[in-house]
Amino acid sequence: MKKFFIIIISFLIVCAGTIKADEGMWIPLLLKKYNIKDMQAMGFKLTADDIYSINQASMKDAVMIFGGGCTGELVSDKGLILTNHHCGFGWIQYHSTLESDYLTNGFWAMNNKEELVNPGLSVTFLVRMEDVSTQVLKGVTDDMIEIKREKTIAGNIKKIAKKATEGTHYKAIIKPFYFGNEYYMFVNEVYTDVRLVGAPPSAIGKFGGDTDNWMWPRHTGDFSVFRIYADKNNKPADYSVDNVPFKPKKHFPISMKGVKKNDFTMVFGYPGSTQQYLTSHAISLITKTMNPHKINIRQKRIDVISADMDSDPSIRLKYASKYAGISNAWKKWQGENRGLRRLNAIKKKKELEKQFQNWTLKDPYKAKKYGKIISKYKSLYKRISPYQLAENYIFEAAFGIEILRFSGKFRKLVLATDREVGDDDLTKIKEQLKIEVERFFKDYNQPTDQRLFAILLKLYYENVDKDFHIEAFRTIRTEYDKSFGKYGKFIYSKSMFANKKKLLKFIDNYTVEAVEEIRTDPAYNLYNSFVKIYLEEITEAKSMLSGKIDRLNRTYINGLREMQTDKIFYPDANFTLRVAYGKVDDYEPRDGVRYRHYTTLEGIIEKDNPDIYDYRVPEKLKELYENKDYGEYAENGELHVAFTATNHTTGGNSGSPVINGSGHLIGINFDRNWEGTMSDIMYDPTQCRNITLDIRYALFIIDKFAGAGYLLDEMTLIK
Ligand code: ARG
Ligand code: ASP
Repeated sequence: MKKFFIIIISFLIVCAGTIKADEGMWIPLLLKKYNIKDMQAMGFKLTADDIYSINQASMKDAVMIFGGGCTGELVSDKGLILTNHHCGFGWIQYHSTLESDYLTNGFWAMNNKEELVNPGLSVTFLVRMEDVSTQVLKGVTDDMIEIKREKTIAGNIKKIAKKATEGTHYKAIIKPFYFGNEYYMFVNEVYTDVRLVGAPPSAIGKFGGDTDNWMWPRHTGDFSVFRIYADKNNKPADYSVDNVPFKPKKHFPISMKGVKKNDFTMVFGYPGSTQQYLTSHAISLITKTMNPHKINIRQKRIDVISADMDSDPSIRLKYASKYAGISNAWKKWQGENRGLRRLNAIKKKKELEKQFQNWTLKDPYKAKKYGKIISKYKSLYKRISPYQLAENYIFEAAFGIEILRFSGKFRKLVLATDREVGDDDLTKIKEQLKIEVERFFKDYNQPTDQRLFAILLKLYYENVDKDFHIEAFRTIRTEYDKSFGKYGKFIYSKSMFANKKKLLKFIDNYTVEAVEEIRTDPAYNLYNSFVKIYLEEITEAKSMLSGKIDRLNRTYINGLREMQTDKIFYPDANFTLRVAYGKVDDYEPRDGVRYRHYTTLEGIIEKDNPDIYDYRVPEKLKELYENKDYGEYAENGELHVAFTATNHTTGGNSGSPVINGSGHLIGINFDRNWEGTMSDIMYDPTQCRNITLDIRYALFIIDKFAGAGYLLDEMTLIK
């Protein structure tokens, strides 16, 4: 019976000529054409123009890229931003010291003057987007060689972007879609004075820590609050005491009504990257080679760093942000592998490839154009595999050694000296390096790094093909009894990059003659030998092969689109503004188990355990729980914390506004579930869920826990 229904339903979907929600990250400009009817049928009550318009204020004016890789949204007419705690994490840490430890204790500005300045943090708004495929592809022909094609496109892009922003302070960026079959331009406005307004303590904002990360049921209060400042004309300006809170065209009203299962939800933000159209060969390279090796390397880093963090609170503070980053991808890759296996992804892709192959046989035109693609993929992936693996080891193992990566920053100084730049430029570089030195050592523990050095270098040595080995391996064999640890001792005792005082003095006294000291520094030398291997042995060969793969991808997706005319293909995520829509939903992680679609404060109290760092519940929160002091933030006496929905999201969507059918903010997106982490490569509607912080929990924390209820006065609350 069930099967019968499925057949009927798929038939209906095909007939309607639309993809059925859930899966897909859609282009705001094209909602009218492809999605809006479907969205409205699912419960969206507004129009496509309410989401994206250049003629009227629309939701896009309230959504921004936050920093380098997250999303944020405006929630007041005074430039107030909400994003995730893990998106603000680096900045919260930046302001934290052991004495005033905002990461641990939280931070709340009680008025504008107390807000903290974040040098280097910016937010980016989309002013408008435009399909520029025709202009970008002008002069490009099918039989053009790849390098010529790239050159032509790059030249066109430069011209188009320049013209689009002439006489404005906007920045234009043009990105390929569908592997370069189409191009879109994004004209952006960047604000550079963004201040920290508030953050809960990590015991709330990161509750569950890396243990619960990528998992459901979840109880993380993953939000932080910032504010944009502008000059007196409301235009972007670097920090100045004279700047005033930014007055946006649009901010999100906040719904206090909560969500029910099957309610419409929409996520509007910046998904970073997905690979939905990979072939079986690519998935096999990822799941059988890349992921296992990368997981193993990070496992080693995690073992060393977490032991040191547990042994000393100052190391915990220093490595908190770095550790979170290392652990995040490490866990994601494991979930991804598991999910792809469970989905039988390789087999499914093979079937599609077979179907495609058979389809090409149907007429000579298709055979000529597409007939050889699949077999070419096979041989190209086989050839690229060793380079890919070596590259992974360079970035994950070699550059996982902090002192190496850090010494690399001084390449700037070497190059500037070689180019004989003027004194002013040299001074600028020196000043900049001094700031980097301060930042680096603030979060650096040399013994930890030295332990990692021996382990990571050895891993590289043992797992990477000899073609990609560095000279130093011979030295280690011949002069250091094959001991990576002994070699490390030498490096760390001799290198100036392990010594802050020495390094600052070196920069202060720097003259062009001193460049030799950098060049001969053992850490810098080692760094350089990896760079050399990378440039000489990997990039050239690899980019030749990946260029060929790119070309195949471009053709393959066109073929797929020709073959499956009833399907609407959404483009892979590429860190441009997208709409994902779906519904609030629970799921069955495994046979016999169903996870409810929301969690409550009850679960936080259940997890409370003073012996486990990730599960220490703040006393104040327990008190509020005991007294059921939930104010107007509870629903039937329960305080909801997070909920799951079927929106197709990925890294970069963190901090994105989650919006209900009326266009009101119901939550902040922050994660996905473990069973669904493969959605970057293959989405499964029964398993893939995005995890959203219920906005009422954030308001409760701001008001009841932090006593910063004054912030709620600026928001538009819909009760
Ligand atoms: N998994 C989420 C995302 O990919 C949250 C990561 C931050 N939290 C953490 N415990 N590391 O970014
Ligand atoms: N946590 C991710 C982020 O930081 C979101 C995701 O991968 O689902 O963007």
